[in-house]
Amino acid sequence: MRDLTPDRTTLDPIEIASRDEIQALQLERMKWSLNHAYSNVDMYRRRFDEAGVHPDDLKSLSDLSKFPFTYKTDLRDHYPFGLFAVPQDQILRVHASSGTTGKPTVVGYTKNDIDMWANMVARSMRASGTKPGDLVNIVYGYGLFTGGLGAHYGAERLGCTVVPVSGGMTERQVTLIQDFKPSTIMVTPSYMLNILEQFNSMGIDPRDTSLNVGIFGAEPWTNAMRQEVESAFDMHAVDIYGLSEILGPGVANECVESKDGLHIWEDHFYPEVINPETGEVVADGEMGELVFTTLTKEGLPMIRYRTRDLTRLLPGTARSMRRMEKITGRSDDMIILRGVNVFPSQVEELVLDIKELAPYFQIELSKEGAMDKMTVFAEPTPEQASAASELGNLLRKRIKDTIGVSATISVGAPGSVERSQGKARRVIDLRSKG
Ligand code: DLL
Repeated sequence: MRDLTPDRTTLDPIEIASRDEIQALQLERMKWSLNHAYSNVDMYRRRFDEAGVHPDDLKSLSDLSKFPFTYKTDLRDHYPFGLFAVPQDQILRVHASSGTTGKPTVVGYTKNDIDMWANMVARSMRASGTKPGDLVNIVYGYGLFTGGLGAHYGAERLGCTVVPVSGGMTERQVTLIQDFKPSTIMVTPSYMLNILEQFNSMGIDPRDTSLNVGIFGAEPWTNAMRQEVESAFDMHAVDIYGLSEILGPGVANECVESKDGLHIWEDHFYPEVINPETGEVVADGEMGELVFTTLTKEGLPMIRYRTRDLTRLLPGTARSMRRMEKITGRSDDMIILRGVNVFPSQVEELVLDIKELAPYFQIELSKEGAMDKMTVFAEPTPEQASAASELGNLLRKRIKDTIGVSATISVGAPGSVERSQGKARRVIDLRSKG
């Protein structure tokens, strides 16, 4: 793989500023953001008043912990535009994320917000090793999802040649990679595996492509998955994180030279990690739920937004800004099976570790009497099609030994596990349906 470390003179000065400088900027911006939310959004004014806090009470960054949390349900309760802090005619664009139930979560951006977003995605792409002039295939879905358009404007801002492919039509994805010769692809990691399979079935060696960098996010993925994709394509696989409520892609990104967790763009997003049960802020280095406060967003300021994503904060390395560890999962993805906590990412690691299994899996939860039952669907690689039952036994044993739960394993024919077109559906929960 090529060394793609960016030239430090091309970084934004704040990325490598001192911690004191970063914190001074954060404090100034946090004061503005709390005032902006309090003055322009009824819900924040009511919540702050009820909690007996006022934006003027913020004297230091740690005073933020006195302010109340914001939840996804707040966006639903004020559907569609009730939390916007500017009149609708100043909103330049609206996006939405489809929840599993009910109405979508709607977010809006002013002209300045859209501009900042493009800058943060451009910064993320530069951290990933992409350079001005590079050709970029954007395979995140275009539409209400923030992935496609968010990546698009960032890639343009960096000065790339942008190919807005969007997701789907997997055979065409391979053709466009072959013919256009992109250096960078931006796509969910699970869909990248689907593209990999298409390369293999067309008899084309993916290591021969022009791709140098994959910027993968929108769903959890493990370091085992990184190794799988990096060796299959002979390219760097870098993690990009974000969520619609805070921005979309570009809240945090790994640096290609270190790949040691994601640097949070702390000049615009202030992170806290809390104990999800008590709501207490935990020290850097401790695991918990990630909470974000936007520092500059005009259209939809978010104060202490509970992401449900589980991680911990770590000191900066390749940049001065703090890192978050690769996300292991969301609190609402956690499966509690007969008292043991199981994350789909743990199953992913074990499936990928068995080289005779293809890198696809899905988990189904059901009831067996009063007991919860977990079935893992997997499949052998085409060359190992006859070894399905031994591979099933091996995976069952690994899951028992490593995670500590008994699972039923179903290793079907090659191609039997559902393929992802965007965000993978890792867990199918049939329990409430009896
Ligand atoms: O998924 C934004 C995005 C698009 C990020 C493209 C990166 C690339 P939402 O649809 O609102 O926004 O979903 C946000 O997805 O709270 C996480 O649970 C999960 N997620 C996003 N990026 C990562 C990542 C976009 N790199 C939710 N690792 C978040 C793990 C991720 N989970």
